[in-house]
Amino acid sequence: MTSPLIRIKGLTKHYQMGGTIVRALDGVDLDIEAHTFTVVMGPSGSGKSSLLYLLGGLDRSTSGEISINDERLDQMDENALALFRRRTMGFIFQSYNLITSMNALENVAFPMQFTGTPVSERSEKSRKLLEQVGLSDRSHHRPSELSGGQQQRVAVARALVNNPSLILADEPTGNLDTASGIAVMQLLSDLHRSGRTVLVVTHDPRMTRFATHKIFLLDGHVVSEDEYKSATMDIVNSCMSIGSLNEISK
Ligand SMILES: Nc1ncnc2c1ncn2[C@@H]1O[C@H](COP(=O)(O)OP(=O)(O)OP(=O)(O)O)[C@@H](O)[C@H]1O
Ligand SMILES: [Mg+2]
Repeated sequence: MTSPLIRIKGLTKHYQMGGTIVRALDGVDLDIEAHTFTVVMGPSGSGKSSLLYLLGGLDRSTSGEISINDERLDQMDENALALFRRRTMGFIFQSYNLITSMNALENVAFPMQFTGTPVSERSEKSRKLLEQVGLSDRSHHRPSELSGGQQQRVAVARALVNNPSLILADEPTGNLDTASGIAVMQLLSDLHRSGRTVLVVTHDPRMTRFATHKIFLLDGHVVSEDEYKSATMDIVNSCMSIGSLNEISK
């Protein structure tokens, strides 16, 4: 039997905050198969971004194992991790993380500096990707001269420039208007259909339509859909009773 693309065992991420420890991830076990479209859901603070950052090799765990393609990320040194990340993954941040002094084309081309792509190919490749995300006519605009949706599409193009097999996205539609959100979702769905593995953190119920798998996080733990639904109903009910208390006290 072949092993899954991603295998996570006993993963923890703890933050020391003064005298207390915040357990952002508290013993996560997960297998994610190649060519799937997985949506990660959970309330604010449940550990979604922490999980994605560890998977993307952008942060270090407190303990536990992460393997991608049978390679242990948690055992790699910084250089090996950076190389692995560039070869394998594209990361789409919620806040875009574009370089403000560079225009759209330069932002998309930026990750190719580290992969030995010949200079002559870089600009052509970036142009094609900008065209794919519908931004050919904005290639010389800097981030401050683009709308939020356009910046996110530049960030998507940049995440794809090294042709990653695994795409990680942290609330990619969180800051977008409806039309831009749908365009980004459609793009992620197309990438999945073309054979990529996609993992998206999202609060957006529209995204779940594309999902082949769903992961639910509560307080740093993976839970079943039923546990998740009953816990989130409890949260909604307690918010509603706070609301009615406010009404009574008026
Ligand atoms: N650098 C940090 N230092 C201390 N605590 C942190 C740090 N980063 C995250 N946390 C805590 O870890 C927990 C999980 O955070 P995380 O960012 O993973 O949540 P999330 O599920 O992505 O939430 P959101 O939906 O609001 O983005 C939270 O309680 C958060 O306060
Ligand atoms: Mg988050």
